[in-house]
Amino acid sequence: MGSTDQNTSQRNQTILVEFILIGFSDFPNLQGFLFGLFLVMYAVILVGNSLILVITKIDPSLQMPMYFFLGNFSFLEICYVSVTIPRLLADLYRQNRSISFLACAIQMYVFLVLGVTECFMLTVMAYDRYVAICKPLLYPLLMNKKLCIQLAGGCWVSGIPVHIGFTYSVFSLPFCGRNWLDHFFCDIPPVLTLLCGNTFLIEMMIYVIALLVVTIPFMLILGSYVKIISAILKLHSTTGRAKAFSTCSSHLMVVALFFGSGTITYLRPKSSHAAERDKFLSLFYTIVTPMFNPMIYCLRNKDVTVALKKFLLKCIVL
Ligand SMILES: *[C@@H]1O[C@H](CO)[C@@H](O)[C@H](O)[C@H]1NC(C)=O
Repeated sequence: MGSTDQNTSQRNQTILVEFILIGFSDFPNLQGFLFGLFLVMYAVILVGNSLILVITKIDPSLQMPMYFFLGNFSFLEICYVSVTIPRLLADLYRQNRSISFLACAIQMYVFLVLGVTECFMLTVMAYDRYVAICKPLLYPLLMNKKLCIQLAGGCWVSGIPVHIGFTYSVFSLPFCGRNWLDHFFCDIPPVLTLLCGNTFLIEMMIYVIALLVVTIPFMLILGSYVKIISAILKLHSTTGRAKAFSTCSSHLMVVALFFGSGTITYLRPKSSHAAERDKFLSLFYTIVTPMFNPMIYCLRNKDVTVALKKFLLKCIVL
């Protein structure tokens, strides 16, 4: 380490006003294809979730807690993917990938806050199913309108304070050396590789936060479904059993995919991160599960499909 080295890094620190998001530019032949692919996925997410949001609001047969959460969750999915995909699409289209320091911090913050909301909302939805199936007599009493609104509201606001502190800590550390991120948005692992101060505290914060917002909710969800499945096994009708099983297993699949890819990304030591793999892994929690979530939660549900048909028919007639 010579003094010139230090000078360079100091100079870089002071002039670092933007990052370059490498994204998928290491596949130059695929730019058009990727743009089309992500555009279609984004459209599917927007249309699918908007439809669910609308029918859960207007259809009289869907005025139940489960559908209140589902509608709110669909709205959340729209917000969640809109933090990353439009930016990704613009980068692929313009072939200019710079993102300002502030925009990067804001993107990371909003993405993390909505990620927490997502984890908590999935937990609340599993809890709702648990009460409905295992404690059916208490259900109307426990899951009243007021509690539903409070639970959903709690999911939305709980990530806000935690991540103000966290994002502030990350972006107040010195950045030095290179200014490009080998990723398609400002996620924690790629940004961490640019920090040159002592990142020990940050890494500890990540573990603690991930434990609170990923591991514990995941355990609660798993617990709810274990209870639900054991309750189903006591059912006498085989068709009822099969139906309940297929619903639960598809919910669990989505949950495992979302939490699994999130856990692998955030709960791994910094040294074991490979940019290529991280990029594809993060596609799962940023785009793939938000796309399949609503489909899986709805299309296997008869009430929703009936309401959806009714709504679409009305749209066509009008
Ligand atoms: C979702 O729930 C929150 C909190 O109850 C509420 O403020 C918000 O309006 C809901 N959003 C939609 C689109 O239903």
